Amino acid sequence: MALKKGMLIVFEGIDGSGKSTQAASLIEELKEKGFDAVYFREPTRGRWGQKIKEKALHPGSLSPEEELSLFVKDRKENVKKNLKPALSRKKIVVLDRYYYSTIAYQGARGIDTRRIRKMNEDFVIKPDLVFILDIEPQKGLERIEDRERKDKLFEQKDYLAKVRKIFKSIKGKNIIHVDGRRPKEKIAEKVEKIVLGHLSRANV
Ligand code: ADP
Ligand code: TYD
Repeated sequence: MALKKGMLIVFEGIDGSGKSTQAASLIEELKEKGFDAVYFREPTRGRWGQKIKEKALHPGSLSPEEELSLFVKDRKENVKKNLKPALSRKKIVVLDRYYYSTIAYQGARGIDTRRIRKMNEDFVIKPDLVFILDIEPQKGLERIEDRERKDKLFEQKDYLAKVRKIFKSIKGKNIIHVDGRRPKEKIAEKVEKIVLGHLSRANV
């Protein structure tokens, strides 16, 4: 189905909140309905994203400012190489993490959240919709236990509690907070309804 313009939909939330699950489900639904939808994620698989992954293997090896700088570099590349081209071809872009993750994660490491927001909003494309999935850190970590080293879980829980608190404080007209504890199908239904509503009002 042809759109008047591209649309950027973002999923945010702590690790294990269900972002990738919802992103995949939404893309499938949209494609079934005949829309052209593509998936991207941050950190990316590009050069900065790879650097982030390498550094992440050694927690604490980077200062908060160094982390911030790497995520911002990765995002600049993502905006230029992936998001802008897809949106200019009027696609629906579904993005797994964006600058709200920087506000929440690097904010939880002590950097001023307003400064993080400002430096990102200087160059990002503003999303049409942002779904922030909320879940207790304990529950999110349980879901991804096999992905994470068990001995890391304790230190992560306190950090993720701070991250979650910042996510919860993010407000705006395109920001939708979703209870991530609900069954995935129910969340997917709600997300789809909001996305289709937005498309019919603003785009088709
Ligand atoms: P994230 O991308 O936010 O880290 P995922 O989408 O990868 O999270 O989900 C983490 C795990 O939790 C996966 O095994 C997924 O199947 C499961 N999961 C996702 N959403 C839900 C849900 N609403 N209820 C229960 N389990 C879920
Ligand atoms: P992600 O790729 O979602 O994790 P995984 O591959 O394990 O599912 O993200 C990696 C980590 O990076 C995640 O813990 C969140 C963090 N992160 C930040 O700290 N700041 C950011 O700006 C972004 C995008 C991610």
